Amino acid sequence: MKKLLIANWKMNYGPIKAGSWIRAFRRERLPKDIDIAVAVPFVSLAAARASLGRASIPALAAQNTFWEDEGAYTGEVSPTMLSEFGAAYCLVGHSERRTHLGETDDMVAKKAAALQKAGIAPVICVGETAAQRKKGEAVKAVRAQVQSAIANLKGDGRAPCVVAYEPVWAIGSGRPCSPQDTKEMHELIRGVLTKKFGHLAEEIRIIYGGSVDVRNISEYMTTTGVDGALVGGASLDPRNFGLICRAAVPA
Ligand code: 13P
Repeated sequence: MKKLLIANWKMNYGPIKAGSWIRAFRRERLPKDIDIAVAVPFVSLAAARASLGRASIPALAAQNTFWEDEGAYTGEVSPTMLSEFGAAYCLVGHSERRTHLGETDDMVAKKAAALQKAGIAPVICVGETAAQRKKGEAVKAVRAQVQSAIANLKGDGRAPCVVAYEPVWAIGSGRPCSPQDTKEMHELIRGVLTKKFGHLAEEIRIIYGGSVDVRNISEYMTTTGVDGALVGGASLDPRNFGLICRAAVPA
């Protein structure tokens, strides 16, 4: 399975800076045997697409979507609209959306299914809070999030989704989850996926996110069961993200 690295800009870079980031990143020497994507704000999708031209690396990802194709949903953006930009992936259920925008498991499930229908791979973000881990409830919390998020996904054809394990306490904290704890959680997630999708689950990439940087990326990429990474802060500088991409695959 090819590893997948996704840069998540979060709420950074409007169209002007998005264009420069893409152009600068395109100048980086990138490893071939890895998939690379960049999750940009809605308003920057067009600029990112234009700066990419016919190039397909990095692939484009959105950071959110609504679950209907069209209609009276002021302010929302649908999967079919995202398709027009050639988005290959879309994040759903990022912890920042769950925390600040009230995104629920039910909404995440609807979004994931709508994306699958539109041919965009949902990147389902899950992860426990510090309090849940402290109480020994991390496994229970993550299992419930994954089960709910994949409930409406179909298991036919291509891999139905990507799952990103992002413990809330590790995001932006400089305190990444240890490779051993990450491995254990990825095994749990793999089990939940296998129960639903059978053999197809083997093709689903489970990636890790939370304070990933150029110093620790190779450790995650060599951890069993980790199929890639979702990188926030350390992806904002295109050259730094280029370094991370190169460090991710052994030369
Ligand atoms: P950081 O890499 O900044 O910790 O963010 C992780 C994240 O939330 C990516 O989606």
